[in-house]
Amino acid sequence: MEVAKTIASVRELVKAARSRDQKIALVPTMGALHIGHIALMERAVKDCDYVVVSIFVNPTQFCPGEDLEKYPRPLDADLEICEQVGVDLVFTPTTEQMYGTANLTWVTVEKLTEPLCGRLRPGHFRGVTTVCAKLFSIVQPDIAYFGQKDGQQAIVIKKMVADLNMPLHVVVCPTVREPDGLAVSSRNQYLTEQQKKDAALIYKSLQNCKEMVEDGITDTKSIIAQMREILSQAPAIKIEYVSILDAETLQEIGSVDRLVLAAVAVRIGQARLIDNILVDVGEQ
Ligand code: PAF
Repeated sequence: MEVAKTIASVRELVKAARSRDQKIALVPTMGALHIGHIALMERAVKDCDYVVVSIFVNPTQFCPGEDLEKYPRPLDADLEICEQVGVDLVFTPTTEQMYGTANLTWVTVEKLTEPLCGRLRPGHFRGVTTVCAKLFSIVQPDIAYFGQKDGQQAIVIKKMVADLNMPLHVVVCPTVREPDGLAVSSRNQYLTEQQKKDAALIYKSLQNCKEMVEDGITDTKSIIAQMREILSQAPAIKIEYVSILDAETLQEIGSVDRLVLAAVAVRIGQARLIDNILVDVGEQ
């Protein structure tokens, strides 16, 4: 496995892989790798011949007052994980490499970035799409891998790729969960044992949404009320949003009559946690 810090060396190594006719994968990450990332990397290793993982804590997707400084950066452990999974190249650029001294070009996806996390984290998705556009341009992968846990992010990136005719496929892999349902996240490190137990209510509320739809209840107001009820069982949980949206347009809907994204964001202690599931009325 190689580790490259510069754009020039990544380009050179990827060019060599392409000249060997290898299919290139990119797994963009911010490091602090966990079993969710490992699932993405394993899928990339299975599908492709040359797997690039980027590790870059992207400052432009953090809002003022968020956890940019304290975001975990266990680089040695991350490199060991990449090596074990069979990654070919890890790209660990500096902020200077990625943004130079005066970056004036930004990528913005409209509409889809307005609800959910977009409303609460202004500028977040502009940072995500800009860094992903840069990574796609540097690595030029055939396939890029993202997790369903960041459901809105996956939808936004797919739209950017489609709208800008970027020549790659985006593969979205299922959310990896703890045995109690808590979605695996780098930010779970901020939770105490009790807070982790409370956080399991997030998935419980999402499952409840699915069960209600299966029972024929499709009125989103009633479902959301019930989900909020479940979350309120733990006083430590501060709800940011509980939403049921059209899974393609991310518009609010009154009734679950198509594929929907049920999404939750909460704060528990130091951590902001998000999770979602796709629910299809046709699944009943
Ligand atoms: O999902 C993440 O970890 C980040 O948002 C990403 C896609 C690596 C961009 O910085």
